Amino acid sequence: MSKTKFNTHHGMVDLLPGEIEQWQALESIVRETARLFHFQEIRTPVLEQTELIARGVGQLTDIVSKEMFAFDRGEDRYVLRPEGTAPVARAYVQNHLAQRGGTQRLFYIGPFFRAERPQKGRQRQFHQFGAELIGASSAIADAEIIAFMQTVYNRVGITNTSLKLNSVGDPESRDAYRKALYNYFQPISGKLSEISRKRLETNPMRILDSKEEEDQPLKIDAPKIFDYLSNRSKEHFNAVTDHLERLHISYVLDPFLVRGLDYYTETAFELTSPDLGSQDALGGGGRYDLLIEDVGGPPTPAVGFACGMERLMIACDALGITMADPPGPDIYFVTRGEAAARWALEFMPDLRTNGLVCTMDYSGRSLKAQMKDANRQQARYTVIVGEQELEKNRITLRNMEKSEETTVHPEELAGSVTAIQKSR
Ligand code: HAM
Repeated sequence: MSKTKFNTHHGMVDLLPGEIEQWQALESIVRETARLFHFQEIRTPVLEQTELIARGVGQLTDIVSKEMFAFDRGEDRYVLRPEGTAPVARAYVQNHLAQRGGTQRLFYIGPFFRAERPQKGRQRQFHQFGAELIGASSAIADAEIIAFMQTVYNRVGITNTSLKLNSVGDPESRDAYRKALYNYFQPISGKLSEISRKRLETNPMRILDSKEEEDQPLKIDAPKIFDYLSNRSKEHFNAVTDHLERLHISYVLDPFLVRGLDYYTETAFELTSPDLGSQDALGGGGRYDLLIEDVGGPPTPAVGFACGMERLMIACDALGITMADPPGPDIYFVTRGEAAARWALEFMPDLRTNGLVCTMDYSGRSLKAQMKDANRQQARYTVIVGEQELEKNRITLRNMEKSEETTVHPEELAGSVTAIQKSR
């Protein structure tokens, strides 16, 4: 009978030892940044109601119309969450977080799912870290959210990023702008790409987002949203740019930045990197003052961001940034014979209680093979022990980096714990 081999689905990958350390280090940086900004973690289910995502993200968006992993079970309609903002908005309403008073400052790290065509930096299961600041309409909140996002990249050491900033205005500004765009593109619709021609009828602002070659020259002279913003929207946007300047966060105004999710109002931003290729957005976000009401809550202003963790890793690779090395054990017990192996097994718990990372050979291999394994695992020290050593009550401690050996009593090994820890 032929054996069947199984693979992950297209666009989904295993994160293996050797690379997982980078992910854990990034997660620590995100958590530490969240702590400094005083945001608390929220974990929402991976499955949400399809209707929540459809209503929150928008029926006509690519995410909802083409990219959802959705299925029904009985009466219930499930979707693998494609993003985190609508779920957090739902959680805010469902759990009456408003009753806690003040603003809610929430962050998350986790997997998300979109049935996109996989390519570099674009997967079907990907990971985001993100933050949502709920209950504040001030431009200061926008600036804090952007500063939070930027701080993570600064702490990782990715500094060659570009922050693109735009306002998509309030609903009135947007209505006026959509009409202006329609009137501009309609007479030249024959020259537009097929996808933009469709968007002309459904959401002309998305034409500005188009990467199709034939659309580029047509976009240049299109009306710009700044000319259609209400006074309130203009004031808000000016205040955001003012705060960013005070924080020394540089940005470029990008009147063509319209995000692919429908819930945005006012500020929209995207952080890009030259190291990513065509999928160049490290992260993005903006204000979404109507979403919470749209999913059944009271009128509640909010602003947030989310960043792709795979894309951050790609940028790290390109820049040669290592956040963490795979951790080698502090002590690898190289044992000769059954009794020595048993001794090591019993000796390790004490060392571990003292915070030392210990391991040993589990399969009775030759001394040479064990030393090779200790080297491969990048052990800092090996303890070499056989029956003779146990009889004499003396074991050999080898500093692997310096290739230095000393003979010690087993009791002294525990004593040298502090020295080893200090040498880290
Ligand atoms: P988004 O722009 O759809 O925004 O996604 C944010 C980031 O997630 C992207 O910039 C990208 O780095 C990463 N990303 C998205 N799709 C994929 C994919 N298929 N493969 C790899 N990475 C991907 C949001 O999700 C909003 N919820 C952001 C937000 C939070 N707005 C307000 N609050």
